Amino acid sequence: MCGIIGYTGSDAAVPVLLDGLKHLEYRGYDSAGIAIQTDAGLTMIKTSGKVDNLAAKAAVTEGLEGVCGIGHTRWATHGTPNDINAHPHMSADGRFAIVHNGIIENYLELKKDLEKKGIVFASETDTEVIVQLLAYYYDGDVRRSLMRTIRRLEGSYAIAVLCAEDPGTVYAARMSSPLIVGLGSGENFFASDITALIQHTKDVIDLEDGETAEIRVSGVRIFDRYGAETKREPRHILWDIAAAEKGGYPHFMLKEIMEQPQALQATLEPRIKNGRIHLDEVELDMAKFNRILITACGSAYHAGCVGRLVIESLCRIPVEVEVASEFRYRNAVIDEKTLVIVISQSGETADTIAALKEGKEKGASTLAICNVVGSSIAKLADQVIYTWAGPEIAVATTKGYVTQLIVLDLFAVWAAEKLGRLDEKTYGKLVKEIRALPSKAQRALDLSSGVGRLAKSYHEKSSLFFIGRNLDYAVAMEGSLKLKEISYLHSEAYAAGELKHGTIALIEPGRLVVALCCCERLYEKTASNIEQVKARGADVLAVAPESNRKIYGEADHVLQVPDTADLFEPVIEIIPLQLLAYYVALENGCDIDKPKNLAKSVTVE
Ligand code: G6P
Repeated sequence: MCGIIGYTGSDAAVPVLLDGLKHLEYRGYDSAGIAIQTDAGLTMIKTSGKVDNLAAKAAVTEGLEGVCGIGHTRWATHGTPNDINAHPHMSADGRFAIVHNGIIENYLELKKDLEKKGIVFASETDTEVIVQLLAYYYDGDVRRSLMRTIRRLEGSYAIAVLCAEDPGTVYAARMSSPLIVGLGSGENFFASDITALIQHTKDVIDLEDGETAEIRVSGVRIFDRYGAETKREPRHILWDIAAAEKGGYPHFMLKEIMEQPQALQATLEPRIKNGRIHLDEVELDMAKFNRILITACGSAYHAGCVGRLVIESLCRIPVEVEVASEFRYRNAVIDEKTLVIVISQSGETADTIAALKEGKEKGASTLAICNVVGSSIAKLADQVIYTWAGPEIAVATTKGYVTQLIVLDLFAVWAAEKLGRLDEKTYGKLVKEIRALPSKAQRALDLSSGVGRLAKSYHEKSSLFFIGRNLDYAVAMEGSLKLKEISYLHSEAYAAGELKHGTIALIEPGRLVVALCCCERLYEKTASNIEQVKARGADVLAVAPESNRKIYGEADHVLQVPDTADLFEPVIEIIPLQLLAYYVALENGCDIDKPKNLAKSVTVE
């Protein structure tokens, strides 16, 4: 959840660290800090609030000159987000400074031990025990002492450490939290994510669980969990800095919404050749499975809800979908005849990782749909299908979600054909429909130009309902979440037919109901639900295909989307809802890319 960075080179460390932290802010932004090796020893500044606050503080702080340092942007887990709990943390003897992403589960026990030895703690964080323990174990060899320290830790960590007595070196260790080494020329880096480093280097090494590493100007050394040095080839990142910048848009979220046609195309292109779907990366004997279980968190779970309906409908295999935080503790009945599909944009979501491990332990085959190459989930799963959405920075996912949908669509058609459930004609028709989705997404964006105006009349609504049936309901869940997370308006998604069993009591004059009407075969049913809420005074905003003229007689406002085959309409239908959430949040003056209390990559339970 937090972002960490380490730098050693010949440039001033402060600007490099601050710039890296700006790119990592999506991981957490309630406080930030840096520590620098200076002539006077380790110097640290930290502050509550965003990286801009830290930059302002750095600009008026003297004595930060140095070419080696570490930085952190935080999403608080232990202790309120104030200046003291912000990272880095220093050992009581001032010898070590540390930044940490993850959670140390046994920190209270370790803290008590150290307090008994007379060590005084400054913060409420779990992180501080690591640095105090390191100082306690220090025997003149930092790496050896670090290895001894991490052996005592239970939980997850990506850490970067400075030692006052070891100028020009940053040490690091990793367990279940992402950490990469960036290889520069005359400079080297650690970071939680490539976005922090892309303007310096495109050559990175992913650290593995249990490894420790040292970076110096002269090079990088990596050691396995037993302390033996290991050699690893770097991987080269293909995208560039422009992909991680706003490119003229006021917010990353708007940029990423607008990039959806290209992201869909990039995900699709390598997988359709001569009118056929090729999932060359997948080796699965579909006939072996008697059920599929999809598990994920947040919007990825909503993608799974769509996936369930599409896969079941085409493959005729029972599909369940469940949030990963529930699945992991349910002791689900699964075996080697089950295919567990996990979906994750970041590939680092703690609950999804745990669900994946649970599936593997029970003997299921596992398939990940993931956007980040080399992420924990991509490494753990038996098979991976990557969404080629490019880096997604805004906390609220948009292009990540739609590319998950198109991968699920591809998978469903591919699997149905493998299972002999599709005749050639239907197969050809479905592939054609999928191929049209990127250009339809562009059309959906073009048709949504009026959403900003609508947002002006809706932004003060206090409680909204999103209703729909079948795939429309799955999209309603995502549309409602988008609005909640970035505009802080309360909203609920309801299966349209279920409203009358209680929730309709909340419909009163002026209540806004967003009715999703893209499932053509169920349109008449949803239309009668619209009539029910209109009869009770609700304002209805409908999302409907361009060809649906009847809807103008039912709804107060209509957002049109291009006509699309029922099964694939979620890819298109979500687009005006993303824009609605965006413009409502804009009207309400919200921090769109970094909504309060959230983080993009949730690496804690
Ligand atoms: C966070 C993000 C959501 C995302 C969810 C799952 O809550 O704010 O946008 O859907 O995590 O993330 P993942 O990276 O696993 O898709």
